[in-house]
Amino acid sequence: MQEQPSRQGALRIAMFSSQPYDRRFFEEARAARNDGAEIHYHATALDAETAVLAQGCTAVCVFVNDVLDAATLDLLHGLGVRALLLRCAGFNNVDLHAAARLGMFAARVPAYSPEAVAEHALAMIQTLNRHTHRAYARVREGNFALEGLLGMTLHGKTAGIVGTGKIGLATARILNGFGCRVLGFDPFPSPAFAPLGTMVPLAQLLAESDIVSLHCPLTDTTRHLIDAATLAAMKPGAMLVNTSRGGLIDTAAVIEALKSRQLGALAIDVYEQESALFFHDHSGDILTDDIFGRLLTFPNVLITGHQGFFTIEALREIAAITFDNLDCFRRGGQCANLLPAPD
Ligand code: NAI
Repeated sequence: MQEQPSRQGALRIAMFSSQPYDRRFFEEARAARNDGAEIHYHATALDAETAVLAQGCTAVCVFVNDVLDAATLDLLHGLGVRALLLRCAGFNNVDLHAAARLGMFAARVPAYSPEAVAEHALAMIQTLNRHTHRAYARVREGNFALEGLLGMTLHGKTAGIVGTGKIGLATARILNGFGCRVLGFDPFPSPAFAPLGTMVPLAQLLAESDIVSLHCPLTDTTRHLIDAATLAAMKPGAMLVNTSRGGLIDTAAVIEALKSRQLGALAIDVYEQESALFFHDHSGDILTDDIFGRLLTFPNVLITGHQGFFTIEALREIAAITFDNLDCFRRGGQCANLLPAPD
């Protein structure tokens, strides 16, 4: 498609890792607000090699697997980029020190439908638990046998929520509706959790939970929160759910726990090395990631490609809040969604 010439004085944004649905919701939001910004949509992810695509732009708009390390930020700054607009909640992919050193405006979308991710976590729990994915395929083949589809009743089971922030709370509310006993662990507990469950130390949560669902951010302290030691501390045969960030789990250790049957089932919407795979069609490629390949062989592992956020409501909200953040940048005023200052 031929590039349109720039409107005089229009602020230009380079959007990286953009998909057709990003264009749809961002163009809708831009039209609704009559915002003059000009968005250049690039399917490629941002890193030091692709940063040059932001030439002539004042802002970049990025997603979860774009790389905003010091080298990339230095390059962007040299090109004239002054604003980093994250169209996601997590910001573990941003070098906060470099962004602060360069004085760049950096804002995210901290909440855009926590329920969307929580509902996806529950969809994964119930798919794995009641084997609806296998039942769907069987019934279409005319196979109505039930052998192999045995699940457990969630009512009365114990579910542990690691990270009782916005998504953790939304998940706890749904699990309450199922009649589960809900346990929570969070170094900064929210009072909103009190009517939903009991805060306990992590060791107790792991030992007592039939389902452990991760909802904490990926930081230096939470990386590989689930490793060989914490897996051994879990109730034997429990289900582990991760809709947060792949790096929370040591995948090699999880594979060992699945093989020994210490871990009963695994549902992941995120994966440590997902940037090489997710958001693109690799169905015609040879899979070179042997750890991911091994995960795919387990009947009790369910993987989705980082789609927890993927609802109409959430995409609308992401676009709207990103434009709000852009307005803050333009005005040079306060912005509630700034990334935190580095430690
Ligand atoms: P939030 O900031 O509202 O809550 C995170 C909670 O984790 C906070 O209460 C915090 O105190 C807690 N926490 C921090 N360190 C912890 C630790 N060591 N152990 C236990 N808890 C700890 O964040 P929100 O909105 O609930 O999102 C959670 C995560 O979900 C995000 O960091 C992001 O990585 C992920 N996410 C995934 C999406 C998907 O599509 N799968 C979409 C949106 C977010």
